[in-house]
Amino acid sequence: MSAPRINIVGSINLDLVASAEKLPAPGETVTGASYAQYPGGKGANQALAARRLGAEVAMVGRVGRDANAEAALALLKADGVDLSGVVEDEEEPTGVALIGVDKAGENQIIVASGANGVLSASDVARAGAADAVLCQLEVPVPAVMEAAKIETPLFAINLAPAMPVPAGLLERADLLIVNEVEAEFYDDALHRGEGLVALTLGRQGSVLYRSGKEVARMPVYAVPVIDTTGAGDTFCGALVVGLAEGMEEGAALRFASAAAALAVTKEGAQPAIPTRKDVEAFLSDKA
Ligand code: RIB
Repeated sequence: MSAPRINIVGSINLDLVASAEKLPAPGETVTGASYAQYPGGKGANQALAARRLGAEVAMVGRVGRDANAEAALALLKADGVDLSGVVEDEEEPTGVALIGVDKAGENQIIVASGANGVLSASDVARAGAADAVLCQLEVPVPAVMEAAKIETPLFAINLAPAMPVPAGLLERADLLIVNEVEAEFYDDALHRGEGLVALTLGRQGSVLYRSGKEVARMPVYAVPVIDTTGAGDTFCGALVVGLAEGMEEGAALRFASAAAALAVTKEGAQPAIPTRKDVEAFLSDKA
């Protein structure tokens, strides 16, 4: 079977990561952290996950005209993601995420959107037809609404971070992906369309619904947790690759759970994203 073609419309950030014993409470200063920077952004992470898991991927997004842009795009470029749809903005800087990670691998993230915040509908309108289109909400809603017009049999939105969107956009989606916080925010509106809804439940695993009815469920794989940043993005990229390849729903959820499990075992969002070979080896060990 040939590799599915997937368009990702979304954010591209440089992640500035401080890893410490614990995360600060409001008003508290925590010292003694180690520091690293990695390419990130929900859109770029999902693009890289889809690519490493076997898809032909085209990224649609915006970066600034600055040194951070090159660093933010480095791994997408190295892995062969098509970056011809990434616009260099003349005024806004490349998006930056300030990330704290504690010793249990949990994180806190503050995003300064920069150029992601001015991704326009006309940037998106240039994207061609694809086997799947995957968006998130770190770019303006009009850009996501334009993505909904791209010719594709699988239009997917990871509703992260949760924010108000037109009801018609949720109903148009063939796949919505949410965590528990996002599921609470959208509530019943998630299940008004005819598409699939994937709910990730952290250590409780993940569930797939259609029209409010459960169609598949996966417990979480037990792995050593180093850093959970980007694991949700890896799940999204993997689930879309699986469904676009025609995997049965339960098999696609298992594939996505395995990819996400591997992603928490290393530091950083993008450096931790596994390859197809890694995921298949992991799954054959569990069979
Ligand atoms: O989902 C993780 C991502 O959220 C990070 O890479 C960060 O850039 C933020 O966008």
